[in-house]
Amino acid sequence: MRKLRTIMSLLLAALLIVSAFPDCNTKAESSVKTGIIGAMDEEVDSLKKAVSDAKTTSIGSMEFCEGMLDGQNVVIVKCGVGKVNAGNCAQILISIFGVNRIINTGVAGSLDASIDIGDIVVSTDAVQHDFDLTPLGYAPGALYEIGSPSLPADVSMRERAVNAVRQCAPEVHVFEGRVCTGDQFIASAEQKDAIIAVFGGLCCEMEGGAIAQICCQNEVPFVIIRAISDKADGSAEMDYTEFEHAAAVRCAAITRYMITH
Ligand code: ADE
Repeated sequence: MRKLRTIMSLLLAALLIVSAFPDCNTKAESSVKTGIIGAMDEEVDSLKKAVSDAKTTSIGSMEFCEGMLDGQNVVIVKCGVGKVNAGNCAQILISIFGVNRIINTGVAGSLDASIDIGDIVVSTDAVQHDFDLTPLGYAPGALYEIGSPSLPADVSMRERAVNAVRQCAPEVHVFEGRVCTGDQFIASAEQKDAIIAVFGGLCCEMEGGAIAQICCQNEVPFVIIRAISDKADGSAEMDYTEFEHAAAVRCAAITRYMITH
C-alpha cells in the first residue's frame, strides 16, 4: 500500500513538472505543418537536403518538398519572383498540402537609412505598394476584399523569428516593421521615396505581401523574414553573388531554429 502511494506521488510530481514547463517540449507539434517559401536556390536546396522522408511534388513551375525537418512537419518550396507566383504558391501550400503556418524568407531592399546591407527585417505587417483602388475611394494599397492595406503578421511567429535571429546570428541587427511588396524591383530614389511617403515601411521586396494576403484570407498565420541586399535606390552595386550565399545560409539557419523553438 505504501509502495502504491509512493508511486502515485512520484507520478503526480512528474505530471506537475511536465505541465509547469510546456515550452521545454521541442518535439514535433504533430498538428503543426509549416510551409517554408524561400526565394534563394541555395537556401531552399540546403533546407530540402535536411528533410527526412522527403516527397517531392511538381505543381506548375514549383517543386514542393514535403517531409520532416528537425522533427517538424514541413513543406519547402521556391515560389519564383513576384506576387502572382507567391500568392499561387501560398494557396497551394494551404489547400493542397494543408500547411497551417507559413514562413517567407529571402532578400529585400532597405527603405530606412538605419537599416544596412546584411541586416534582417522581421515583418510586423505587409502591404502591396502597387495595389491602387484610390480612384474608387479606397486608401492607397487597400485591398478590395480586406478593405485595408495592412496584412498583419502573427505575433507569436514574429517573436520566434526575432529570437531565432538573435540566437543564430547575434552579430546581425534585427528590425521589426512593415514589409512593402510590389511587382517592381525598386532601384531609384524616386520610387523608394514614393513608397516611404505613402506606406512607411522598412524594406521592399516582391513576394511577401501576396503571401500575406493569401494567409489572411485563409486565416493562416505567417511571418516574413528578409535579409537586406541593397538600398533600393540604385546607389551601390550589390555584390549579389557573395551576399546571396551569406543570406541563404543565415535564412536557412534562422528558419530551422524558428520551427524548433
Ligand atoms: N529584393 C531585393 N532587393 C529588392 C529591391 N530593391 N526591390 C524589390 N525587391 C527586392
